[in-house]
Amino acid sequence: MPDMEGNIEASDFCVGESAKCEGSRLKGLENADWGVKFRMGRIFNPESGNTVMLAFDHGYIMGPTSGLERMDLSIVPLIPHADCIMCTRGALRSVVPPNSGKPLALRFSAGSTILTELNDECLADIEDAVRLDACALAPMVAIGGTFEAKTISNLAKCVDYTSRYSIPTLGVTAVGKNLARDARYLGLATRVIAENGATFVKTYYCEEGFEKVVAGCPVPIVIAGGKKLPERDALELAYKAISAGARGVDMGRNIFQSECPRAMILAVRGVVHKGMKPDEAFEMFSDLKSDGEKAAK
Ligand code: R5P
Repeated sequence: MPDMEGNIEASDFCVGESAKCEGSRLKGLENADWGVKFRMGRIFNPESGNTVMLAFDHGYIMGPTSGLERMDLSIVPLIPHADCIMCTRGALRSVVPPNSGKPLALRFSAGSTILTELNDECLADIEDAVRLDACALAPMVAIGGTFEAKTISNLAKCVDYTSRYSIPTLGVTAVGKNLARDARYLGLATRVIAENGATFVKTYYCEEGFEKVVAGCPVPIVIAGGKKLPERDALELAYKAISAGARGVDMGRNIFQSECPRAMILAVRGVVHKGMKPDEAFEMFSDLKSDGEKAAK
């Protein structure tokens, strides 16, 4: 009980001044719960409204992927430069320092590997996501694949968890080997994922009509980087996606398989947060890389 004696009476009500209510800059969030907005606000940079998510969940399907052989050595030094990390709970608990302070997009579905048929997955336990203070649950959604129904059902359960615990759902577009990554397919997949209630969607960039994919999806889109490209090409990919309306990247191999991962993530940040053009960002990458090489001598 506060000491009431000598208490100053409340009088500063600023009558006549309208209440300040800052909405989220992310589309589709206006009617979300406070906790969902709070967590999305941790993932997306408040100034640019965009995000650089560092994805290193590949091992749950692919085993010891190139660049991820020793996540303690390759990934942990990059974490301070990411806005959010995306990984499995196994990698998180075994490698990521608990004081890293970064929001977590938790890989939340699993069940198959590259040795079997992909996407035959089930969900992890929501209590564990709460224990880990996850900022997003990321289930794989294989539209048009053998396990379409199962993965949509996983997505639906995640969305129920979003409603119950205010942890956003990041629907991850899993594109089967025989499906084209074109605007028609990606537009359909991202829209289906959003209509099933995902808070945001991770998908791939396509050269033709990506702006229509973004416009037709009522929630924010972030793009995966995909297979390793030359650094300038990867920066151009990020630039084109952001220019077409994506709100960020959830990038793995093009960062951790780069000749200089630290320089690459900083250059990607230049594109995503500062609107750097590909040439400018590549120059930044090259300068940082050669500074690092000089320092190592
Ligand atoms: C997708 O679901 C994977 O697990 C990765 O998180 C995703 O593909 C992003 O990584 P990359 O940029 O290497 O494609």
